[in-house]
Amino acid sequence: MRVKLVAGNWKMNGSLASSQALIRAILPPVAALNRARFAVCPPYPYLAAIGQVVQGSNVALGAQDVCQFDDGAYTGAVSGAMLADSGCRYVIVGHSERRGIFGESDEAAALKYGQALKHGLTPILCVGETLAEREANATESVVARQLEAVVKRCGVTAVGQGVVAYEPVWAIGTGKTATPQQAQDVHAFVRGRIAAADRRVAEALTILYGGSVKAGNAAQLFAMADVDGGLIGGASLAADEFAAICRAAHEAKETVKA
Ligand code: PGA
Repeated sequence: MRVKLVAGNWKMNGSLASSQALIRAILPPVAALNRARFAVCPPYPYLAAIGQVVQGSNVALGAQDVCQFDDGAYTGAVSGAMLADSGCRYVIVGHSERRGIFGESDEAAALKYGQALKHGLTPILCVGETLAEREANATESVVARQLEAVVKRCGVTAVGQGVVAYEPVWAIGTGKTATPQQAQDVHAFVRGRIAAADRRVAEALTILYGGSVKAGNAAQLFAMADVDGGLIGGASLAADEFAAICRAAHEAKETVKA
């Protein structure tokens, strides 16, 4: 049985005041939803403040990135230990904006994944192809390569301790969502790759879809057999939109794979 998860990725948006207002508006409508898991990932400087607000609620705290190294001389970086200390339960690793804009490699993402687990955080590993890669029929090979880096470095059991988010780059922030079937196809592929190494890990693995998820399309996406929730960017910045997506996850059936 897989319980759905909805995580909001606030990216580099908002102020302290607007972030506090946002979380205060999200908590009441989400409080009644008990059939799914929820998280928000604010920018680093706001983690502690948002962590205070979510304490005791059913919305967990997550970070958007983590350093691949233990503490030391890594100017500008934030360690897994610091995130755990700040009350984080989740951390996004290998987001396409980290890979694309900041040149983060598959190997760096795998190291970050390992750091997250080492500090008791649940890593949300983002994988996904660009439009050019999809058009070149390379979706599966790209996703497999990104997954494989983590399996190779951390092992398949470690994959089972985290979450995978399929986020086609062409769907992120573009308003162009993958169709439920396109998402399902890649999710089934991901699960199949992991199943080849460990069937039980694969069956229990939470696989999120991310890329222009909105209140209006969440229910159809979450109805797919291998879609276990969403990683939400733009729509997580509007409390009513985000709460509606959380409700769609709460109302969706828990999925069991035969
Ligand atoms: P989006 O972003 O919902 O704004 O497309 C998703 C993400 O980048 O995680």
